[in-house]
Amino acid sequence: MSAPIDATSTEAWTALAVRAEDFQPDLRAWFDLDRDRVNKMSLAAGDLHVDLSKNLVDDDLLATLVSLAEQVQLTERRDAMFAGAHINATEDRAVLHTALRKPQGEHLDVDGEDVEVGVHEVLHKMYAFADQVRSGEWTGVTGQRIRTVVNIGIGGSDLGPVMAYEALKPYVHPEIECRFISNIDPTDSAQTVAGLDPATTLFIVASKTFGTLETLTNARLCRTWLLDALRRAGAIGDDDAATADAVAKHFVAVSTALEKVADFGIDPENAFGFWDWVGGRYSVDSAIGTSLCVAIGPERFAEFLDGFHTLDEHFRTTPLAQNVPALMGLINVWYVNFLGAETHAVLPYAQYLHRFPAYLQQLTMESNGKGVRWDGSEVTTDTGEVFWGEPGTNGQHAFYQLIHQGTRLIPADFIAVANPAHPLKDGEIDVHELFLANFFAQTKALAFGKTADEVRAEGTDEATVPARVFTGNRPTTSIMAAELSPAALGQLIALYEHITFTQGVVWGIDSFDQWGVELGKKLAQEVTPAVGGDEAALAAQDRSTQSLIGFYRANRR
Ligand code: F6P
Repeated sequence: MSAPIDATSTEAWTALAVRAEDFQPDLRAWFDLDRDRVNKMSLAAGDLHVDLSKNLVDDDLLATLVSLAEQVQLTERRDAMFAGAHINATEDRAVLHTALRKPQGEHLDVDGEDVEVGVHEVLHKMYAFADQVRSGEWTGVTGQRIRTVVNIGIGGSDLGPVMAYEALKPYVHPEIECRFISNIDPTDSAQTVAGLDPATTLFIVASKTFGTLETLTNARLCRTWLLDALRRAGAIGDDDAATADAVAKHFVAVSTALEKVADFGIDPENAFGFWDWVGGRYSVDSAIGTSLCVAIGPERFAEFLDGFHTLDEHFRTTPLAQNVPALMGLINVWYVNFLGAETHAVLPYAQYLHRFPAYLQQLTMESNGKGVRWDGSEVTTDTGEVFWGEPGTNGQHAFYQLIHQGTRLIPADFIAVANPAHPLKDGEIDVHELFLANFFAQTKALAFGKTADEVRAEGTDEATVPARVFTGNRPTTSIMAAELSPAALGQLIALYEHITFTQGVVWGIDSFDQWGVELGKKLAQEVTPAVGGDEAALAAQDRSTQSLIGFYRANRR
């Protein structure tokens, strides 16, 4: 693996720094002077219409950002990723989520093996399973069909499936509900199984490593809940054979560690594999999406994968100057490294996308929250910004004040679809149009603001004029699709995967490892005995931790 190119030593970086010194964005003037700005900066990526025109960039800046991408060899690294090179340097792995969505019949030889063969074998197995559950052919121990699928997983083994399930609710089988357990807080499993009929419930234990404390603990809690409830109902006996049969009919697993799945008591026949070259946060399109596949069915799941592939092809083949994920990633670099942005808002105007910001938080921040580069050297500039967001219009009545008038620069992505899932009317008024009017109005207000003279012209008392001025020049990207279909969702997710990749390449970091989550996991293991009353373990803790555990122990009933 070649050493990363230090972006800050490139000519393009220097040019950007010079530009940033006296940068006075003026979107009003830029729109007036360049009548073609919107046309030039509105690009298609698959079915997504992406309007970059309200960003704080002009033609020159965009060209310089593209030069930066060339100078850090973005396309070379992109091609290495698609080809299966081990670009995840610290784990010595290929990074091949893009291989999960290649159409059947395509080939990809990696480390001497055609990975597409395995990908499509697992997909077929998953599709057959989904069909069995959806048709009612798969039954629980009492012979009843499955009505609730509970996905047990955390991080990438939860956030993707739950986000996509919520996003695609209109496509969900009417007789099947999915629920999701992730947190080791026992409230999560207790609340999620409350009211469920064990005879019609199927658990999917989703864990890439099958070693994650939260997931295995929750899986055991659910196994106990299932067996106890079935026994109480007289549906199964106490013997080992009855237990094994119940687990086999009510538990399946998704993992790269199939031997650990067997140790848990799940029949390997009922396990769906994937590979170490799929990062957890890039895995919703692998067997980790089994719950989603059961919910929406194989045909829709295949459309979801096609959506990803469409964006992959866009990213892989489109020249950088029209390459939407590359440009969005580069514009983010401009904001983070030159204009001082520390956060980035993602604001879906689509209630069904309400978990999308949470999903993106893992994708972007676990990927690019790094302080060293892929060769172990320190980064030379700031890296990953904080991603956050909530659906509109709720956010408008909460935190938009700060985006409109606060002192910080907060670039924001607005996402909307033309066709609502529920085309309701309030009298004569189309409510989706009311909703989208807010989307259009917000991006307009953020870009063009309101001057003091405009405020005065409304007859505002002079003393309150300053408080009612909107500076404008608050950057947004608008992303629209015709509808929130499985394909559009796949495209949207892949768009952000490649934005994240682009930023990671500029910063020279390995966007595919996540060592930063390990220390806390290890310390939790060391702290656990202290919490349980082991005095020696308690004495080994720092004073603050001892004091907090002391409070816990004194107050625990
Ligand atoms: O702790 C972080 C992490 O490793 C994520 O990257 C991953 O998505 C999550 O935990 C769950 O891991 P697993 O699928 O192996 O249970």
